[in-house]
Amino acid sequence: MGHPLGFPGPRRTVMDGRSLPAGPLCSFRGPAPPAPGMLHRPFLQAGAVNHKRRRGSILSARPSGGCRGGPPMAASAQAGNQAPRTGEAVADAKRVVVLVSGHGSNLQALLDAAADPGAGMAVVLVVADRPGAYGLERARLAGVDTIVARPADHPDRAAYDLALRDLVAAARPDVVCLAGFMRILGPSFVRAFPDRIVNTHPSLLPAFRGAHAVRDALAYGVRVTGCTVHLVDEEVDHGPVLFQAAVPVEPGDDEDRLHERIKREEHRLLPVAVRLLAEGRVRVEGRQARLAEPEEATR
Ligand code: GRF
Repeated sequence: MGHPLGFPGPRRTVMDGRSLPAGPLCSFRGPAPPAPGMLHRPFLQAGAVNHKRRRGSILSARPSGGCRGGPPMAASAQAGNQAPRTGEAVADAKRVVVLVSGHGSNLQALLDAAADPGAGMAVVLVVADRPGAYGLERARLAGVDTIVARPADHPDRAAYDLALRDLVAAARPDVVCLAGFMRILGPSFVRAFPDRIVNTHPSLLPAFRGAHAVRDALAYGVRVTGCTVHLVDEEVDHGPVLFQAAVPVEPGDDEDRLHERIKREEHRLLPVAVRLLAEGRVRVEGRQARLAEPEEATR
């Protein structure tokens, strides 16, 4: 039997055709929300691993430093204040590798969630495709290993995919999370981590796939858009949906303002999805993803 997914939150959110607590701004309808607190059940500890710390890039000779156009101080301070859950501290935790390209606010949400001792998961590696990604700085502030893997250092996309696959696999992830990673991953990468790669996209898929989802939604004139947290398959912005949250378009919205509100929803949903995947609680049949009971967990 599947189980409705539940966590407290101001907006209504949907996974598996069932809904979560209602909010004033959302148009989803569904059955009664599940009991709050479900996500605070203890994690299964099967498959515990030890993580040996590694530093530096195995793909690029360039240092992974350099932060351009970083976030406000508050974000940095938040990252710096959290207890790192890496190295020996994560011996019993599920291992999460995060791929980023930019600002890394979704990565920050994951780092914050993983800093909860009860989370049972740890971000063990952050990979960026460019050295200026502020996500790298967030990772360093949280004590997480970083690697820069630049496509330009590889002869073609297939070679980059293979190199990326190998360095991610070397971190032995339970979950691979694309948190604003702005590259299309090829089959060699996707097949290496079946049903273990999760992405967040700033639209209600299947609407507005692609790199400019917020801009495209505004240009189309939609009244409601949102975000989709989904598993990654070999098509772009296409895999089974885990969560969606609706975000109304408000008068005067521009791309940045709307995207910020969408990101707030992503920050709420992505850590929950990663945690459930890490727990082995997500079952996939075709396009349908459902939440398994804790005792059904496979990892
Ligand atoms: C998110 O909105 C994500 O959906 C999209 O890129 C944005 C990344 O934001 N793919 P951040 O780097 O996590 O702040």
